[in-house]
Amino acid sequence: MEVINNPTQVDIEKAAKALIDGHLVAFPTETVYGLGADATNEKAVSRIYSIKDRPENHPLIVHISSINQLENWARDIPEYATKLASTFWPGPMTLVLKRSTLAMDFITGGQDSIGIRVPDQQVALLLTREFEKLGGSGIAAPSANRFGSVSPTTAKAVEEELGKFLGNEDLILDNGQCEIGVESSIIDCTQVNPVVLRPGAITNEMIEKVTGLKILLKSEESEIRAPGLLESHYAPNANVILGMATKPGDGFIALAEVPTPIGAIRLASPVSIEDYARDLYKALRLGDQYGLSKISVVEPEGDGLAVAIRDRLGKAASGKLAKN
Ligand code: TXA
Ligand code: MG
Repeated sequence: MEVINNPTQVDIEKAAKALIDGHLVAFPTETVYGLGADATNEKAVSRIYSIKDRPENHPLIVHISSINQLENWARDIPEYATKLASTFWPGPMTLVLKRSTLAMDFITGGQDSIGIRVPDQQVALLLTREFEKLGGSGIAAPSANRFGSVSPTTAKAVEEELGKFLGNEDLILDNGQCEIGVESSIIDCTQVNPVVLRPGAITNEMIEKVTGLKILLKSEESEIRAPGLLESHYAPNANVILGMATKPGDGFIALAEVPTPIGAIRLASPVSIEDYARDLYKALRLGDQYGLSKISVVEPEGDGLAVAIRDRLGKAASGKLAKN
């Protein structure tokens, strides 16, 4: 495995070629780092599942370079989905649509739908473009972490977590820390009204404003996909406890305005909700590096990205409870 820092155009062409040849390329997006493979190459995609130790019926998101590629992957696209795509792409939003014949069972987990997005990150966008120039259709990329654990927001986190599983020809493209820091909003567009499967930076208010439709809420572990599989998600090794309760030696994450309890180890002091999202996963990983057994987290209040942060923290916390 080779790590390429601040990839140039030539490096990105090399990475696109590696994908065409069936190798894996981890790359930055504006949300989190993804572990990419040619979405039409069953063998390459199966390596993603084994490296992540991810259940096979858990579908992958396909990354494309623009809305023009959408119809290769999806059919019966409702008007409201086209509105969302033309407003928010490139951006932190995944649309779930009825799949085309290009979207094989090994990408969709055997479902009749496909998750698709155009990432808003220079390296990711160039990579999808170069890949398409070479005849590729789309890059399947889940977050580049082991199944159930914290998504990586730096290339170093990818290398630490997955480096030992990657092969000689696989690549990691390093383009610094991800700007948003939590995964894309996932919107199910297979029904008359949009359904939010996972909250993210594209908020419910934004979706309703653009579509003029009421959205229905549903959790990511919806029965349409992976029944009963997700007991632990977005979780570090440490136990995540929501609230102030902190004993000396425990980790602590909260907005900067919340003072550190005596004896606690402060892992992050974000000054805004945006900073909170961007630094959260790095802070949870830092807690593991320190070998902490417990991290208590004061959740941010309010709308917008705070909804996505509370969603992930709730899963990180309940996942650990389920394990213990
Ligand atoms: O921000 C992101 O979305 C990142 C970056 C790399 O793009 N990717 C990401 O992928 O978070 P992953 O695989 O870690 O999470 C994708 C989620 C899974 O929970 C999966 O079940 C859901 O998307 N998903 C994918 N395809 C779906 C489909 N056809 N129907 C319903 N859910 C789907
Ligand atoms: Mg993930």
